Amino acid sequence: MKSIDVRDKYIQFFERNGHTHIPSAGVVPENDPTTLFISSGMQPLLKYFLGEVHPSGTRIVNSQVCLRAHGFMDDLLEVGDNRHTSLFEMLGNWSFGDYFKKEQIPFFYNFLTKELGIDPHKLYISCFIGDSENSIPKDNEAVEIWKNLLTEDGIDCEVVEFENMEQADKEGNKGARICLYPSKKNWWSRNGVPSDMPEGDIGGPDTEVFFDFGFEHNTQYGEKCHPNCDCGKYLEIGNSVFTQYIKKNGKFEELPSKNVDFGGGLERMVAVLNNTDDVFETDLHQPIIKRLEALLGISYSDNKSLFRVISDHMKSSTFLGFYGVIPSNKQQGYVLRKFIRRSAIKIYLFNKELDFSNVLKQIPTAVYEIYKDVNPKYGFNVKEEMLTQISEIIFNEAESFKKILSNGLKQVEKADLSKVDGKFVFDLYQNQGFPFEVSYEIFKLRGVEISQKDFLAEFEKHRNISK
Ligand code: ALA
Repeated sequence: MKSIDVRDKYIQFFERNGHTHIPSAGVVPENDPTTLFISSGMQPLLKYFLGEVHPSGTRIVNSQVCLRAHGFMDDLLEVGDNRHTSLFEMLGNWSFGDYFKKEQIPFFYNFLTKELGIDPHKLYISCFIGDSENSIPKDNEAVEIWKNLLTEDGIDCEVVEFENMEQADKEGNKGARICLYPSKKNWWSRNGVPSDMPEGDIGGPDTEVFFDFGFEHNTQYGEKCHPNCDCGKYLEIGNSVFTQYIKKNGKFEELPSKNVDFGGGLERMVAVLNNTDDVFETDLHQPIIKRLEALLGISYSDNKSLFRVISDHMKSSTFLGFYGVIPSNKQQGYVLRKFIRRSAIKIYLFNKELDFSNVLKQIPTAVYEIYKDVNPKYGFNVKEEMLTQISEIIFNEAESFKKILSNGLKQVEKADLSKVDGKFVFDLYQNQGFPFEVSYEIFKLRGVEISQKDFLAEFEKHRNISK
């Protein structure tokens, strides 16, 4: 099944169930200086959770382009496995004080099993165990709704409770269909667990659906397996958040209305429907992967991590271009710069003879290929007439990086590896403009993993001295 069909089916299913479709907001938030990118579908809709009336009603659906590039490098360094991408589409449906758990859980379950035809025996569920520290109760209601639904389809519904992740990794779910986890896994707010939420932030318990690929558990990731284990047996494909609380004076009060915030990764759903656990094997990445295979002269299957980083980062770079971001030394422009430099250094380290600027400038047309037939009503700002300019921006940025690279490399080559640490890399950055992300890749290849934390500590020290 193609991504274009999955997206259409999702939007149409919720439209049939009384939802109004709204276009995706841009990937750069409007009038919100607190964050660089839209990283979840609910973000542009925040005020409607707080009680403002949405002009399109109380049931909304869309597919939102999201970009996650939290921390200095955290999210970027996660890219390279089979399922993490910085740019993704979040399929979302929302209820602003309209329906709640007993409608939302069947909506998503029926979408997966009836609309997409996924075998319910392959689905596993997680729910919230409660948070005694913040007096938030266990989500028994969600558990009961799931039990009824699954039992109707002839599926056994054992429930297992995990007080903490150590217990989950040690004991595993032993085949139980529904697992209860603590806040770390089954509570959602933009700022994480209840204790980390600032005053005025909203959040609630959530219930996630995982697809079981049926692989053997890999004990490198823990003694036993369970849906939130990272070994790859289970993949999370959707999260229904019951946004019903607001934090006030350190306590959790009910919001004026109970809301639903659902988010599901389109890339992951398409992967599952095509029997692969690798989102880079879906049509949301394959045109880029194929272009890279031709340009680099090697195959994806032998060089997965290299292809995944470049495909992801160049897709993000191209989208940032579509939304008018240009490389710079701050904010969104700096993240774009990091995407381009990390892609360039990956190519450089793979083959120093290749002209990376020339390779990178050819990727935006492959990104366009992926989206050119998507219904314009979904609101992605993907425009053919912008491609020449975006390619040029990427080419010029890569070219200017070449100069920085050649100066810095001289220092890197003569470095005494036993002395390479956060300070060394910071000095290189300070004196030669040699970026952390590039040093990180080069030294990693030479067996030294530089700590991002140490680098940032040096950065901070320097900032205080300059102040
Ligand atoms: N807002 C929820 C998430 O991002 C759905 O997972």
